Amino acid sequence: MRQYFYLALLALLLTACTADNGKKYVIGVSQCSEDIWRDKLNSELVMSTYQHDNVVLKFASANDDDRLQAKQISRFVKEGVDLLIVSPNQIHTISSVIDKAYDRGIPVILFDRKTDSKKYTAFIGADNYEAGHDMGAFIARQLKGKGNVVEICGLEGSSPAIERNRGFMDAVSGFPGIRVVGRRYAGWLKDRGAAAMDSILAGGQHVDYVFAQNDRMAVGALQAAERHGIRGMRIAGIDALPVPGGGMENVRDGRMEASYIYPTRGDLVMQLALNILEKKPYK
Ligand code: FRU
Repeated sequence: MRQYFYLALLALLLTACTADNGKKYVIGVSQCSEDIWRDKLNSELVMSTYQHDNVVLKFASANDDDRLQAKQISRFVKEGVDLLIVSPNQIHTISSVIDKAYDRGIPVILFDRKTDSKKYTAFIGADNYEAGHDMGAFIARQLKGKGNVVEICGLEGSSPAIERNRGFMDAVSGFPGIRVVGRRYAGWLKDRGAAAMDSILAGGQHVDYVFAQNDRMAVGALQAAERHGIRGMRIAGIDALPVPGGGMENVRDGRMEASYIYPTRGDLVMQLALNILEKKPYK
């Protein structure tokens, strides 16, 4: 008898969890790029759909192409998504299409990267100024306040590249013995990180430490240094992904000196989306 009671209770609970008056929320996720950091984030978003079966996710990746990202967002709007989650490739390039979606009443969550518009519902992401600042202070300390440093930045118009650079420069400016002898923009990409480092080393510049704004560019810079037969140049990056070829592996194997943990937290992004959709409080 007792077990029937528990079975009935379980069935009741399950119906209560799934009923939700049948409404499914369709969320369009517009990623600026395709790489292991974003794959991890996408998987975390997908994982949340197993806990919230009233959510359907649609993904689009723009492969670092502003125009393609604008098209993909317009398509989501036409398809009538209930909410947009967007990581905008650059600050100025896709604001207008995001504005249009917002003006149509579609809630917009910006995550990881920002735009120059105030038309969004919420922003969620780590503090990129702090990431750059922490890395600048770390590198200056590792060099005991003296040495030549190169910064390899991400995509010039993307907000994390701008904020990481500001934080980094503010931190190293407190160390008069640290000279920033080179800076290149490498679009967050490994091959471009390699090309950037190549061009600096080809000029005969002595470099003690490289700050790459992400691990992919750090690995590219390392490969360039190896090609130039340079030994003893130290390097640190950002992302610290625990996957083959990621920052954690490179630090463990002594190829990189450090990587800053740049969290993905798809679970929090999804919670924010649900709070907005269900009209609950959110920041
Ligand atoms: C992934 C990525 C990361 C970087 C972040 C900045 O697409 O390039 O490597 O930390 O974007 O937005």
